[in-house]
Amino acid sequence: MNKTRECAWEYIIMSTISKKIGVVENRRSIDKLNERKVMTVPNFRAQKGSAPLVCLTAYTAHVAHLVDAEADMILVGDSLGMVIHGMPNTLGVTIEHMIMHGQAVVRGAKKALVVVDMPFGSYEESPEVAFRNASRIIKETGCTAVKLEGGQEMASTIQHLSARGIPVMAHIGLMPQQMNTTGGFKAVRDEDTWQAVMLDAKAVETAGAFSVVVEGVAEELAQKITNTIGIPTIGIGASAHCDGQILVFEDMIGLFPRVPTFVKRYGNMEEMMIDAIQRYSTEVRERSFPADEHTYKPKKS
Ligand code: KIV
Repeated sequence: MNKTRECAWEYIIMSTISKKIGVVENRRSIDKLNERKVMTVPNFRAQKGSAPLVCLTAYTAHVAHLVDAEADMILVGDSLGMVIHGMPNTLGVTIEHMIMHGQAVVRGAKKALVVVDMPFGSYEESPEVAFRNASRIIKETGCTAVKLEGGQEMASTIQHLSARGIPVMAHIGLMPQQMNTTGGFKAVRDEDTWQAVMLDAKAVETAGAFSVVVEGVAEELAQKITNTIGIPTIGIGASAHCDGQILVFEDMIGLFPRVPTFVKRYGNMEEMMIDAIQRYSTEVRERSFPADEHTYKPKKS
């Protein structure tokens, strides 16, 4: 899809969402936003054990603006490869993709903490390579922190970045970038594997991560991790025991066909979009759009 068509799609999605939400609720969200303080890394971390942290992904400026009214954290996740760019998994996502969407989200978000994912291949080689790429993401997007997948094996990298001014959100449990080694997107359910995930959680905390995404793990394990470590756990498919929750925006508004067990759909945008596209196409074909009110009249001088 070329850039112009991508923008046109985003416009259709966002104007449909805005109409659905309605002016009154929009107003309420904006008032709420004005009352809220800018979320910082220390404040995010300090919220462990108190009010649950609300996190969502966003990939465009307008979605970021809407999400910003409610969310404590907005993640520019590498799931954008799948839900925006039509890739089969996240492995083909580049730093340039993350920077382009990160810039858009930072423009749209005023209060939430913006975290940008480090894509596959941009941090695993060494702490130095990770620093080079993470600092580029921060400089070019203006985001506050980066997220990277990995536990014990990434501890020295997390330590290297955190000690040099780059806040790191870790990501353990089901790690989508490991899909070729694990043989797919596999939830951590087998009790024999729990100990390793617990060690990962402890390792990323000790290394200096300010928070950790815990993806696709059994409820009891998520609860144990949350009760053991001192940084907020942000769950996705990891039960209500976590300190916060995150979902991919397109999944929760019903704009992506795959619906994993852990996704709750809070809307069905796909249906609304299909309906809008069909009505538009009918009206163009029968020449009832554009109507008089959509048509410029000659300017009288
Ligand atoms: O890329 C992403 O959207 C993520 C979330 C699933 C946490 O990493």
